[in-house]
Amino acid sequence: MGEPLTFADPSIDRILVDEAQIRQRLEDVGRDVTADYARQGVHLVGILKGSLVVMADLMRVLTIPTTVDFLAVSGYGPDAGRSGAVRVMKDLDQDIEGRPVLVVEDVIDTGLTLNYILRTLRTRHPASLDVFTLLDKPTHRLVDLGIRYVGFTIPDCFVVGYGLDYQEQFRNLPYIATLKSVEPDG
Ligand code: PRP
Repeated sequence: MGEPLTFADPSIDRILVDEAQIRQRLEDVGRDVTADYARQGVHLVGILKGSLVVMADLMRVLTIPTTVDFLAVSGYGPDAGRSGAVRVMKDLDQDIEGRPVLVVEDVIDTGLTLNYILRTLRTRHPASLDVFTLLDKPTHRLVDLGIRYVGFTIPDCFVVGYGLDYQEQFRNLPYIATLKSVEPDG
């Protein structure tokens, strides 16, 4: 193994959650998911694009039958108000009726996006519908979602890396970092 990669972008402020912390926490969560879904297996539904990195790592620590699908939605934008209505840009490939679904998110902030997604998925009658989020940012939560698995609860700060972006940059960072200063993400 060589030296760990470093990312020398001057806009990176500090590392909030490092690679070792992410790996350790995913192993712990993976053990819980493996135990909770041991009987029936699990169908993971990742919300693109932010979930792509954590999905890849979470699925590899599960030791039960696991299937994967992805949903892509647009941001809800200023006109949606508190409905959180989002546009489905890419629907699931597979039917979820009767299946044990675990939604995989990178971050939950207001909760509006996920609330809308869960309402939509419930109409398809999965056997169960639960949520794993890598990051929980509860400061501005507007809807109570009953999140079953949380990686890390973090304060109200703008974070990038490990799937999360600022204007589509930084998703490839192997850790979660704060930025020095950000303009509102468009
Ligand atoms: C992020 C995240 C959630 C949403 C959370 O997605 O993946 O879907 O924002 O915000 P909320 O709880 O306030 O609704 P984003 O719009 O950044 O898209 P991306 O995953 O493609 O980066």
